Amino acid sequence: MMKKTLNDLWNVLEDYRHLVSYGYKCDNREPYTPAAITTASKPQGGTVECVSGNETDSFEKIVKEIMQCRKCKLCGQRKNSVPGTGVLNPLVMVIGEGPGAEEDNQGLPFVGAAGQYLDKWLNAISLDRTTNCFIGNIVKCRPPGNRDPQPDETEQCIAYLKRQIALLKPKVILTVGRIASRVISGREDGIGRLRGSIYSYEGIPVVVTYHPSAVLRDSSHRPAVWEDLKMLRKKLDEIIECM
Ligand code: URA
Repeated sequence: MMKKTLNDLWNVLEDYRHLVSYGYKCDNREPYTPAAITTASKPQGGTVECVSGNETDSFEKIVKEIMQCRKCKLCGQRKNSVPGTGVLNPLVMVIGEGPGAEEDNQGLPFVGAAGQYLDKWLNAISLDRTTNCFIGNIVKCRPPGNRDPQPDETEQCIAYLKRQIALLKPKVILTVGRIASRVISGREDGIGRLRGSIYSYEGIPVVVTYHPSAVLRDSSHRPAVWEDLKMLRKKLDEIIECM
């Protein structure tokens, strides 16, 4: 017990050592959670629509399709699909690999221990899932036993993410972990080699970092994560300044 408390305290101190606090206030963008779509027909913050070819796409349409999706085997064991959560005009879109057990229970992304740690990362650079970010995943249903999503599952699911990105138009994308970083950067390297550069996805800058679960398991990644977060914030500020 004592050892665990000391360990937790040490971890907090370590984070503050690397953390450079930013003085920005989170702007007030309207939050959206899937609960909003089950209790009301529209997400909070209005609708987001996009015309591609002759068809008008909308956020509600994507969510409904994700909720009913049976395109791959992951649908068989899900309790809930996890379309994503956040604001509909995000500064940053965070992309992980796929829901875990707690996310499957709640229908929300990054709500377990890794999610709480991710929130801390975002808050450290004045970002927040309820005011200026959107958080989603490569696959929208939980891979059993938290295994990596398989290529056929990613292939079937990726169209939802592409449509979400096209509608939400985040200023910057942050991918966490090897799976999401590879899919979005289009490269095959591990995080150690991928991080430190800014990639582009459909013209949107992409910053890559470790998955919060990996950092919870191995604290030696912390300095690298803080560097990546600072790089993300710098890129975002450059973009905001030009707006
Ligand atoms: N890990 C992920 O990659 N996504 C989640 O939603 C939760 C944990």
